[in-house]
Amino acid sequence: MLTPEQNDRLTLVGPGTPMGELMRRYWQPIAGVSEFNENPTKAIRLLGEDLVLYKDEGGTFGLIDASCAHRRVNMLWGIPEPKGLRCSYHGWLYDETGQCLEMPAEPGDSTFPSRVQLKAYPVETLGGLVFAYLGPQPVPLLPHYYPFVEEGRVRSIGWTVVTCNWLQIMENSLDPIHAEYLHGYFSKYALQRVGLLKHRGDIYGKRPPEENEDFGPYWRKAGRTMRHISASTSRFEHGILKHRWLEGEEKEESIGWRYGHPILFPNLESGTGGHDFQIRVPMDDTHTYYVYYQSHWPREGENPNQREDEIPVYHVPIAGVDEWGQPIWEQLDNNSGQDHFAWTSQGPRTRRYLEKLGQSDIGIILFRRMLLEQMQIMEDGGEPMNVFRDPAKNDIIWIPFDRMDDETIVGKTAIPKNPDRHAEGMSTGSSGKFNTLNLEYAKRIGATLPPPFPKSAKTTVEVSPG
Ligand code: FES
Ligand SMILES: [Fe+2]
Repeated sequence: MLTPEQNDRLTLVGPGTPMGELMRRYWQPIAGVSEFNENPTKAIRLLGEDLVLYKDEGGTFGLIDASCAHRRVNMLWGIPEPKGLRCSYHGWLYDETGQCLEMPAEPGDSTFPSRVQLKAYPVETLGGLVFAYLGPQPVPLLPHYYPFVEEGRVRSIGWTVVTCNWLQIMENSLDPIHAEYLHGYFSKYALQRVGLLKHRGDIYGKRPPEENEDFGPYWRKAGRTMRHISASTSRFEHGILKHRWLEGEEKEESIGWRYGHPILFPNLESGTGGHDFQIRVPMDDTHTYYVYYQSHWPREGENPNQREDEIPVYHVPIAGVDEWGQPIWEQLDNNSGQDHFAWTSQGPRTRRYLEKLGQSDIGIILFRRMLLEQMQIMEDGGEPMNVFRDPAKNDIIWIPFDRMDDETIVGKTAIPKNPDRHAEGMSTGSSGKFNTLNLEYAKRIGATLPPPFPKSAKTTVEVSPG
């Protein structure tokens, strides 16, 4: 059990906090490139700092302080110029380094602009995402993990804001057993509640035949969970591997057991499709920018290798309760919605000093230890793990994952042995239901479409402080 002080150390992310400083050693995704095709500015809250990300008319991205240096008007309303962003109030112009270039109301020969510098951070784009680095110099390399850079695939990006601290979301990734209940038994209960399933059966039962009838090819998955015979974790150079040996598998042949499922330090989880990520970016102590990053082998009619500004960005509604405090069941027929309420109902920043951990929580304990250990390394002046500095190793970073046997890697391409399965299997926590590429594909092939999506909950679960 943790003390309240240890809980603070692990969860608080503002400037000057130990975890905030550790998180600042890593590039963090903050937006999708194609969002800027329509809107040139976006408000960003990252590690407790309020910033504005903009794309100027020259195509350069900048991440600057949200408040203008003059009289604090928010730069979200800024005007993109050929170079830089101009404040809407009195026209001060800033470039991507935060340097003030113009002050229209000051005398023409004034040196004042050269002496005004707004806070600014480096940004880079990769795989259709804009990443930011808020840490000390020298800036490390932005890691070229394979889903961002591999060739021959189609990419898409979903996002939402989860109203809780980032760590309880990451801990969910180190907790394989929740899949049996939350995504198994509870999932069937949720389908019962919306009238799609008559009987929820037992925890591990296969789906009754009637359940399969009206379900689309990808957008609803439920109740097909296998019991873990054994679940364990191991460390590897990029983080933690989650090993699962499931009922019905031979241990030696179980790829989930042999390869494991990777959690990349400090805040990425590989999706079940193998070429997907779920990324949990701390916005502040009680909000998390959540990215569902997908890359899949092209299906009929799809164009691989999109330009970055062609990679679609979609919203994933956040699950919660209605205005009368009841769960909105329509949001809970998919893994993403189920995870949302589980995380947020633990409280905005869960009180770990009240928990009771058992044997099955061993992965969570390992992850906390790893975070504390890496924080200590950083505080002692060292470099924490999984920071990349060698360009020769950053062309493409392949990570072993639990479907590797299904593919052959040639150069920067992972060729699926069964392309159909790989295209159909695209998933990051079943947020695929909201993916615009999936909806377009389903229409093209005449598949059943999901009903209209419920809106994000007005409130998330705040029935207890967690
Ligand atoms: S407040 Fe921005 S220019 Fe005056
Ligand atoms: Fe989950």
